Amino acid sequence: MTILTHIAAQPFGDEKASHSYAPLLLPLRSRRLVIRDFVSGDLGALHAYAERREVTRYLLWGPNTVEQSRATLAEFIAQQEVAPRVRYDLALALPGGKAIGGISLHLDDLRLGNAEIGYVLHSDYWGGGFASEAVQMVATAAFAQWPLNRLWARCMESNKASRRVLERLGMRHEGTLLRAERLDGAWHNVMMYAVLADEWRTRG
Ligand SMILES: CC(C)(COP(=O)(O)OP(=O)(O)OC[C@H]1O[C@@H](n2cnc3c(N)ncnc32)[C@H](O)[C@@H]1OP(=O)(O)O)[C@@H](O)C(=O)NCCC(=O)NCCS
Repeated sequence: MTILTHIAAQPFGDEKASHSYAPLLLPLRSRRLVIRDFVSGDLGALHAYAERREVTRYLLWGPNTVEQSRATLAEFIAQQEVAPRVRYDLALALPGGKAIGGISLHLDDLRLGNAEIGYVLHSDYWGGGFASEAVQMVATAAFAQWPLNRLWARCMESNKASRRVLERLGMRHEGTLLRAERLDGAWHNVMMYAVLADEWRTRG
């Protein structure tokens, strides 16, 4: 759900902790996906999914106007220059370069080594395992490159696809916050998931 909010997070923690978080090495590549920083030329691709009601149904933003997508992209690009970088809002792209979604990794507490992961995909690509693959790639890189302790995610209880993404990757359902969000006038329960560094390394 992180990829939905554009409110700047305040990284807690001391100076010392931030030195251990070198910039994540990008791009990440698999046979069918490239995870890279957004560039200004991605506006059309970003807006193509951000304007769709079915895509943003369980998100805290959208559907976007083109101006909102432009502002979002500008914010994602601005975060690339922040040091230490604590917000990675990355493009999920096909090997040919076209962005088909986004994946976010926000270091929300450097001292405790906590980061939140979130993702969104253009609906034309749903059901192909792209989100699961992307989360796997980003989580693997984050745990390998950083002294991360805990990776967490949250999703609306009614968002079955997102729950499956997290569960099939071995993230633990740690609890459900009742009526913790309100969308289109209706209350939603929010499910909290997490995986610890040692759990990630020893999972099957
Ligand atoms: C959530 C989302 C990213 C999943 O992307 P995806 O690439 O289709 O997911 P995957 O193909 O990796 O599928 C993951 C699992 O979810 C299941 N799934 C996919 N769509 C589903 C649906 N509508 N209902 C129930 N399960 C669904 C898949 O079958 C798969 O489970 P399985 O391994 O048991 O078969 C995508 O639906 C999306 O972008 N939704 C809108 C944005 C959003 O909600 N983001 C998450 C915010 S918390």
